[in-house]
Amino acid sequence: MAAPWWRPTTGSKLIIRGSRPLVGTYPISGAKNAVLPLMVSALLTPHLVTLRNVPANLDVAVLAALLQRLGCDMHWSTAESGLAVTIAADRVQPQRIDPELVTRMRASVLLLGALLARCGEAALPMPGGDAIGLRGIDFHIAGLRAMGASIDLTAGTIRATARDGLRGAAILLPQPSVGATENLLLAAVAAAGTTTIRNAAREPEIADLATCLIAMGARIAGLGTHVLTIEGDAQLGGAVHTVLPDRIEFGTLACAAALTDGELLLARGRVDLLGVAASSFDAAGVHLRKTAEGVVARRAEGGLTGVDLTTAPYPGFATDLQAPTMALLAAAAGTSTITENIFEQRFRHVDELRKMGADIAVRGRTARIRGIERLHGAAVTCTDVRAAAALVLAGLGAKGETTLDGLDHLDRGYDAMTGKLAACGADIERR
Ligand code: UD1
Repeated sequence: MAAPWWRPTTGSKLIIRGSRPLVGTYPISGAKNAVLPLMVSALLTPHLVTLRNVPANLDVAVLAALLQRLGCDMHWSTAESGLAVTIAADRVQPQRIDPELVTRMRASVLLLGALLARCGEAALPMPGGDAIGLRGIDFHIAGLRAMGASIDLTAGTIRATARDGLRGAAILLPQPSVGATENLLLAAVAAAGTTTIRNAAREPEIADLATCLIAMGARIAGLGTHVLTIEGDAQLGGAVHTVLPDRIEFGTLACAAALTDGELLLARGRVDLLGVAASSFDAAGVHLRKTAEGVVARRAEGGLTGVDLTTAPYPGFATDLQAPTMALLAAAAGTSTITENIFEQRFRHVDELRKMGADIAVRGRTARIRGIERLHGAAVTCTDVRAAAALVLAGLGAKGETTLDGLDHLDRGYDAMTGKLAACGADIERR
């Protein structure tokens, strides 16, 4: 089995009896959005790549299964530092891609850059993922074509070849796409010559990927900036890399502590990775204090207050924190606005929050939230990974019982959320 630690939790419903303060230590896992590209990077080398602090979530299990099908050996271990995986990609067979698994996860598009770089060919169906917008992959395709790949898109399949290898190119992204930056980075490391990616995304998970690639022998400059310069043709060796802490899990649980008027030590959480969200949280009454172990989160003395925020590429307010923050603001004093600028359909949680009594009106890309004292429990459905987290938060803060279904979405993105919350005093169970 590709991920022997993954056990589909029994029970298709999550029951939360809310209004209990969360108190205790909540360990923040490795970042989902960092570990996926890091796992794919192992395809670039025949040598061993070990990743530590791997989050045990469904997306990781699905990607592990995809990599195993492609010929990788996956060796898992658990230590005090968490789950670790060593990936041996000495025999990669690009034709053995599993189309069903690809369609379950948007990040599988990263296989394109890595397989082209390693094997000179890749064929995969259009990747899946959350239903939160158009989420084209045109930037990925254009960038890889600029690097010399021939790409054919017919009947929902992407067929890419680079028989004579990829070559460096000057690429300008129309928009700082996280996935396109990562895909092109993976391809550029093995391409002949120099690649520049301008208007690159600056999310911390990209620098984490680049750091691991550099440890493997890649030459990359401009980490954390809008211009990445990659000297290609690197002979890549193995590496041991510890995955960055998950800033989205961290921000989400910080909101949960404040919403339930509890106090959580978010172990390994890092305020410096939140970008603009740190000051938005402060203004909304989410108090964060750094300690040696992580960050203590609680409600500020003045209580929760409405704020106006707009999602934007990093360091702007993360779109992945938009839904959880909306659950917080639904119970904050005053009116808030949230403008979603990254994905065009990322308000599907609004209808669910309304079922719990939230007063939210959506006009175009902006949601206006009039805070009420407390939401009430209801039966709700998770529609994407971050919407799922928002509904858990809403349930934790609400009066009465909330029942969630569509839990695959929650499992995709969060490592043991139910158990971690229960350990901090939540009345939560899977049934
Ligand atoms: C990644 C994250 C996701 C996060 C998002 C934005 C992972 C595994 N997922 O997704 O959690 O919400 O960044 O921070 O890291 N776009 C195009 N054409 C392209 C590529 C993107 O039009 O070729 C558009 C998308 O439709 C979207 C915007 O650009 O509107 C940003 O998307 P992108 O940054 O690529 O998001 P993902 O990498 O898919």
